[in-house]
Amino acid sequence: MSKVKIGIIGGSGLDDPHLLENRQEKSVVTPFGKPSDVLVTGTIKDVDCVLLARHGRKHDIAPSAVNYRANVWALKEEGCTHLVVTTACGSLQESIHPGDIVLIDDFIDRTTKRKQSFYDGTLNEFQGISHVPMNEPFCPLLRTMLAASIKSLGYSFRERGTMITIEGPRFSTRAESRLWRQWRADVVNMSTVPEVVLAKEAGLLYASLALVTDYDSWRDDYEAVHVELAVKTFKDNAAKACKVFLHAIPRIAEKDWSNFISKNKEVARCSIMK
Ligand code: ADE
Repeated sequence: MSKVKIGIIGGSGLDDPHLLENRQEKSVVTPFGKPSDVLVTGTIKDVDCVLLARHGRKHDIAPSAVNYRANVWALKEEGCTHLVVTTACGSLQESIHPGDIVLIDDFIDRTTKRKQSFYDGTLNEFQGISHVPMNEPFCPLLRTMLAASIKSLGYSFRERGTMITIEGPRFSTRAESRLWRQWRADVVNMSTVPEVVLAKEAGLLYASLALVTDYDSWRDDYEAVHVELAVKTFKDNAAKACKVFLHAIPRIAEKDWSNFISKNKEVARCSIMK
């Protein structure tokens, strides 16, 4: 049974000192530049974990300016086998409420400015073109295990959902928000793409806890999203995500992931055309 190491990418609310034991900060540089902040290594009930603040611990990196490639590469180089992440998002459905967690299983990409591949020809070590499959971006087994933990903690959640990732940093207009609904997206954010794509290219198993903070801009009977609302609800709910991780990660580590890890790495390797 191969040992797992869990990379956790989160917002500022997830820099909870109680989340990891034996914390150590590590500053790294990757072939793609610097990640958003130091890697914080440590353990959750003896399981090795590495924590990284997506937007920096001071939350001063805009969604389009996040070096997603450096973040994912740094966690892979640190030996992570899995990435479990959190993301704030807006709800596009009446049945999904602020405070809910959505275990997203698909995405629609509305980003325009981000590097989505390690294999863009700029680095000698990364030659070729990676046509990575995206029919199953998120690991279904990780989602199932996270769902079991969320259920036993009694939180309100959805087992699946489609995330639409916009470029930002502005929020969607009312017309856009209604269009996302017509496209049958369930939630909207600014960071799932390209993170999940790069995780797949790196051969890492990836799951995301989407924490709903608002109803975006489509509802006439609710306040449209603004920063203060999203940040407040995210902070109120980050504690939930920590509890989910504390419950789920020891259980994830008990499982033998050898076949999943090697299959995922094989998919990544076979996607490169030289
Ligand atoms: N993050 C939190 N709420 C959001 C929204 N409505 N749109 C995009 N990103 C978000």
